[in-house]
Amino acid sequence: MTATAPQQKITYTSANVDMEAFHRAFDAALAAIRAGLGRTYPLFINDKPVEGSGGGDPIVDTSPIDTGVVLGTFAAAGPAQVDQAVKAARVAQVAWARRPWQERLAILRKAAALIRERKFDLAATMSIEVGKSRLEAMGDAEESADLIDYYVNQVEEANGFIRPMTPMTPIEKNTEVLRPYGVFACVAPFNFPLALSTGMSSAALMTGNAVIYKPAEDTPWTGLKLYEVYRDAGVPAGVFSFVSGHGVIMGDSMWQHPGVDGVVFTGSKGVGMRIFHGLSQKWVKPCLMELGGKNATIVTETADLDAAAEGVMRSTFSLQNQKCSATSRVYVHRQVAEAFIAKLLEKTRAIRMGDPTERDVYFGPVINQKAVGRWTAAVEQARREGAILIGGERLKGGVFDKGHFVAPTIAKLPLASSLFFEELFVPFLAVGEVASFDEAIAESNKAEYGLTAGLFTGKKDEIERFFDEVEAGVCYVNKRSGATTGAWPGAQPFTGWKGSGSSGKGGCGPWYVQQFVREQSRTVVEG
Ligand code: UN1
Repeated sequence: MTATAPQQKITYTSANVDMEAFHRAFDAALAAIRAGLGRTYPLFINDKPVEGSGGGDPIVDTSPIDTGVVLGTFAAAGPAQVDQAVKAARVAQVAWARRPWQERLAILRKAAALIRERKFDLAATMSIEVGKSRLEAMGDAEESADLIDYYVNQVEEANGFIRPMTPMTPIEKNTEVLRPYGVFACVAPFNFPLALSTGMSSAALMTGNAVIYKPAEDTPWTGLKLYEVYRDAGVPAGVFSFVSGHGVIMGDSMWQHPGVDGVVFTGSKGVGMRIFHGLSQKWVKPCLMELGGKNATIVTETADLDAAAEGVMRSTFSLQNQKCSATSRVYVHRQVAEAFIAKLLEKTRAIRMGDPTERDVYFGPVINQKAVGRWTAAVEQARREGAILIGGERLKGGVFDKGHFVAPTIAKLPLASSLFFEELFVPFLAVGEVASFDEAIAESNKAEYGLTAGLFTGKKDEIERFFDEVEAGVCYVNKRSGATTGAWPGAQPFTGWKGSGSSGKGGCGPWYVQQFVREQSRTVVEG
């Protein structure tokens, strides 16, 4: 790419960046990508191309923006290739773990640098493959690099997780070392195909594990580009294998493989629970999972309603609500419900919809036909149980006829509606009126999920009560730039409570990496 990359960092909530330079570089990256569409890609095991067999048809990766555009055709791994990848990983992991930790960190730092170098290519790929807006796509790329650096710095500050311990006698030397489990199966979702894949896998790798990596079926291309980053950074052959495939055919063979020592997974609660219940047979294996959300934002009678409406609109409709962190339900105090809803509708009406690879388009398509189906069913249910306030129709005309486009939709519903509790992962917001702060908290906590939560209030005591009482791992108060979204490495640990996670420690946080290692205490008696 010839365009000079601007130095400023784009996050999900950026402002004041030089957008002209950004867009020029993005245009150039998009053009380069469009020139290389339609190729066929193998799996990569031991850094060698491998064909898929027994895993069903190859994955035809189309763009959700225009389903007639084939981005590439990707090999579908079957159980035999999974087995091959696990065996390669078991061999390669031994030497990888023996390398001095400083060397592993240097390789991972190189990977972060390569992501920054390639960020326009990576962002443009995600924009086409996922249907992300330009800013969302760049946020994903930047977050990926920051995740690696944040984790690497932690390991370095902890001296590679090696620490001297108290000697019990003058002649003994005691050391505590955190050591890798071995081989992790890493299964990633489509929505942050780079950041979540990078966060999960880099933590495993820097601590001396090997990884067999399955990208989401909807986003193998971005996944392949992560593989290339690691390979080019110097991750040795076999330590990170790229095994694209169909989850229903080969997914189980990954985590059920006896050579897999642990699983790191981001995806649906249903799949996550199945893995969790099936994984530990002979002994308990680490099962690190982030499993979605049904995140509530509470708007009280003292809230700044403009900030609340802006924050809710952004958190609900950025990336078409396909973030685990997205707001998908609002509990608004009845005294301000009318005024809040009016502002929210005004801001929703102003959303720029269209082809999200274009400048300044905020809202693109949903990922696939299944998502359109979930949205359609939710809209039909909402019409029966309450009122659609805006949206409720497929978008039509021009680009909208080519892809999976549905309108940003808001419905007013009775609090008992199941639409307040089921994760949909489509641009559908359920709004309910409450009579008090207590009722809002109680409704929030009724959901099985507990990932993010938002509050808009003018009262200090409600802020404290919110943090104390809401059952969620990532909590925000009065956040206009996104009521429940925008967690960043080192700023907001992303931890799911209840049905939203398995370990009580989140990515982006200070306790995440330690989950990929197990303790060994080393006592040597001298003399
Ligand atoms: C996810 O969708 O699983 O906080 C992660 C945010 C993003 C994380 C989303 N950084 O909005």
